Amino acid sequence: DASDIEKGTYPHYMLKEIDEQPLVMRKIIQAYQNEQEQLAVDSEIVEALKAADRLYIIACGTSYHAGLVGKQYLESLAKIPTEVHVASEFVYNMPLLSKNPLFIFISQSGETADSRAVLVKVKEMGYQALTITNVQGSTLSREADYTLLLHAGPEIAVASTKAYTAQVSVLAILAHAAAEALGMKTNLNLVHELGIIANAMEMLCDAKDEFEQIARDYLTTTRNCFFIGRAIDYYVGLEGALKLKEISYIQAEGFAGGELKHGTIALIEDGTPVMALATQEKVNLSIRGNVKEVAARGANPCIISMKGLESEDDRFVIPAVHELLTPLVSVVPLQLIAYYAALHRDCDVDKPRNLAKSVTVE
Ligand code: G6P
Repeated sequence: DASDIEKGTYPHYMLKEIDEQPLVMRKIIQAYQNEQEQLAVDSEIVEALKAADRLYIIACGTSYHAGLVGKQYLESLAKIPTEVHVASEFVYNMPLLSKNPLFIFISQSGETADSRAVLVKVKEMGYQALTITNVQGSTLSREADYTLLLHAGPEIAVASTKAYTAQVSVLAILAHAAAEALGMKTNLNLVHELGIIANAMEMLCDAKDEFEQIARDYLTTTRNCFFIGRAIDYYVGLEGALKLKEISYIQAEGFAGGELKHGTIALIEDGTPVMALATQEKVNLSIRGNVKEVAARGANPCIISMKGLESEDDRFVIPAVHELLTPLVSVVPLQLIAYYAALHRDCDVDKPRNLAKSVTVE
C-alpha cells in the first residue's frame, strides 16, 4: 500500500525518521539562513522576545523535553529568564506570571489539545504566543501570533525522533537570534556548529550495529532501565527514557545524576541497566561518580560519552560537538537503542499500544 512506498526499504518509519535527521538538520540550516548566510528568524519574532521579560515554554511529551533544552539556550545565550511547563498542568495550575510574558508553544503536530487549551487561555488574557511546529496551518500555528516551522517533513512513527532534534535546533536558532538582537556576545558560529552536528548525526546513523548490540546486551530481558545525566544531559536522559518506555514497554525513568541516590537507587538490583550520558565537561567527574555509586550496588552501567571526555569504561563515544548542542547528537544513540530494544522484544515499533501520534483530547 501507499505507506509501504513511503517507507521505502525501511522496516519501520521510526528507523527511517532517525536516519533522516542529518538531512533535516541541513534543511533547517537552509531554511533559516539569511542573505549573509547567517541563521536568523523573522524580525518581528525577535522583537517579541526582546520585549518579553520572561518566556513560558508550553509543551507535552517529547516536545516538553525539547523545551527543557530550549530553556538552557534562551537563558545561556540570550539571558532571558525562561520557564518550561507541561501543558496539562499549566492550564489548571498557572504560575504567577511576569509583567510581559511571551508564550512559546512547542508541538510537532500543532494539534495537541492540552497545549491548545493553554494557548486559548493566554490569548484570552491578552498575551502573545509563538508556536514552533512541524505543521504549517495547524491549529496551534493559526491561533498563535507567530510561527516557526521545523522543516522535519511528515513524522509518522508515534515515537518522535526527527521532530525532537528539529525542535532543539530551531530553539538554538531562536535563542541565538535573540542574543544577537540583545547585543549579547555568544561566540557561537551556529551555521558552522550545526553543520558539524549534521555530520556527527550521520556517523551515529552509520553505527547502528553498535546500538543494536547495546540493546541486546542490556535490554533483552530487563524489567526496568534508568537514565542518568547532569546539566543538559539530564534532559536528554529524560527523552531517552521516554523513547524506551514508549516502544519497548520497559519501565524506563530518567534522573538527574545526583538525585538517584535520594530514593531510586533502592530499585537497583544485580544487572539493572543504567544508561549514563557524559557529554559535559563541568559535570564529567560527578556523573562518573554517580555511575560508580550504582555500579557498586550491582547496576550494569552503559556510559555514552563525548570525544575529549571519554574514559576506558565507556561503551560508546560520540563525536565532539559544541557543548550546548550535544543533545542533538547524544539523543541519536538513545533513539536507536530504544528502537532495537523494541524490535528484539517483538513490539510494534511504529504503533505502540495505548499511544497516539497526536492527542486531540484533554
Ligand atoms: C503524543 C505523542 C508524543 C508527543 C506528544 C506531544 O503523546 O505520542 O510523541 O511528544 O503527543 O505532541 P506534539 O504534536 O504536541 O509535539
